[in-house]
Amino acid sequence: MKRSGIPAASLRRGSTQSDTDSIFYMPQQWSPSSWKDHPIKQQPAWPDEAAYDNALKHIASMPPLVFAGEARSLQANLAKVAAGNAFLLQAGDCAESFEEFSADNIREKLRVILQMAVVLTYSMGVPVVKVGRIAGQFAKPRSSDTEIVGDLELPSFRGHIVNDPTTTGAARIPDPDRLVQAYHQSASTLNLVRAFTKGGFAALDRVHAWNQEFVASSEEGQRYDNMATEIDRALRFMSAIGIDTDTNSNLREVDVWTSHEALLLGYEESLTRRDSTSGNWYDCSAHMLWIGERTRELDGAHVEFLRGVSNPIGCKVGPTMTGDEVIALCEALNPAMIPGRLTLISRMGADIVEDRLRPLLRAVKDAGHPVVWACDPMHGNTFTAENGRKTRHLDAVIAEIEGFVRAHRAEGTWPGGIHVELTGDDVTECLGGVDAIADSDLDDRYETICDPRLNARQGLELAFRTAESIRDSLDTSNS
Ligand code: PEP
Ligand code: CO
Repeated sequence: MKRSGIPAASLRRGSTQSDTDSIFYMPQQWSPSSWKDHPIKQQPAWPDEAAYDNALKHIASMPPLVFAGEARSLQANLAKVAAGNAFLLQAGDCAESFEEFSADNIREKLRVILQMAVVLTYSMGVPVVKVGRIAGQFAKPRSSDTEIVGDLELPSFRGHIVNDPTTTGAARIPDPDRLVQAYHQSASTLNLVRAFTKGGFAALDRVHAWNQEFVASSEEGQRYDNMATEIDRALRFMSAIGIDTDTNSNLREVDVWTSHEALLLGYEESLTRRDSTSGNWYDCSAHMLWIGERTRELDGAHVEFLRGVSNPIGCKVGPTMTGDEVIALCEALNPAMIPGRLTLISRMGADIVEDRLRPLLRAVKDAGHPVVWACDPMHGNTFTAENGRKTRHLDAVIAEIEGFVRAHRAEGTWPGGIHVELTGDDVTECLGGVDAIADSDLDDRYETICDPRLNARQGLELAFRTAESIRDSLDTSNS
């Protein structure tokens, strides 16, 4: 029985010329625009259709942001995660901002991601695949099309790629020029990410230098510093036995891949290009794209679009997901069962994650789907504090990761990664952590334009606690 809801005739396996993917999924009747024949959710009502079409045509004429070979490399790395031999760290803003766009901002975000990756790699002893929610993470799904502000009913803010959060009717009108601006900001951001990660900033002999002052002064920063000292010692040892640590690219360069939620399908389609090497279609707006919790219907436009592009893709998995549904999604999105192609990002809530996740892990394992399982411990743990601020408590975020790890241990599967919202800045958006940020501190530096993010210290604490939780779980299963 075909449960995917996609006509069997449109699903076929094939083989390619390239040896990087010996089996690939060649959808028939799929085209970059076939999503238009499916029901779609969460799209803005663009008031000027001609201006919208022109913006998309303009983007379609621009260079791709990433190229297919890079997406294939990421997929090969994710295949190692799916096999239990690597760990995925996917992190960055909830929504990137047109206003908070600067070299400092990008560098600080990168710095905390690199620090967290060092902690995870060093503590767990496995490579960490680093993927940013960056260089394209602009569009936001909303629970309601409108919001009430005073006596006004305004269209919801959908991210800077669509409209402006200012609470006036004019600011909330979707503006297609913003699509073009988002493309250009993504290009500049990606350029800087590439420069930082390949140009010396990410070199492993700089681990001490990544420890920003406001992080270094904390307990977690001290712990990080001790780890950095040990890494320095290991580098000196390697040098002493004749390994050239100045030129070894593994020690001087890192890969930080880009990702975002593929929400605005017109934008994604305009950056979808056919790869001349493999003949396959790639969405060249980012290396990896994911489907959000609100747009993952099997016959919906988002599943239709992403099933046909050959990038590694993700899909959020919330608490209402059933075993049959998750298998149907795996069949629709990765019918050829390519390892690393599909990452399932569970976002359940700390209290229920263990119970809800276990049957899904079992179903996917029994069906033989080689997925990466990642834990988004943010979106199931959001609540509104007394002062009206949307927030999350670091304890709940860590508790969800611990529940996720326990569920995997019980089912004999690999807790493959974490997916978190953070910033490198010293914000006060999430509660708890070594600084014990309280309700009354939230107003101090609450800067996000969407969901509350961990600050750099909280991010580092999360990395230490995640590594401990996984290491303990591996120790108990080996004993
Ligand atoms: C997000 O990742 O910012 C998001 C909106 O998540 P979800 O689709 O899981 O609600
Ligand atoms: Co979010």
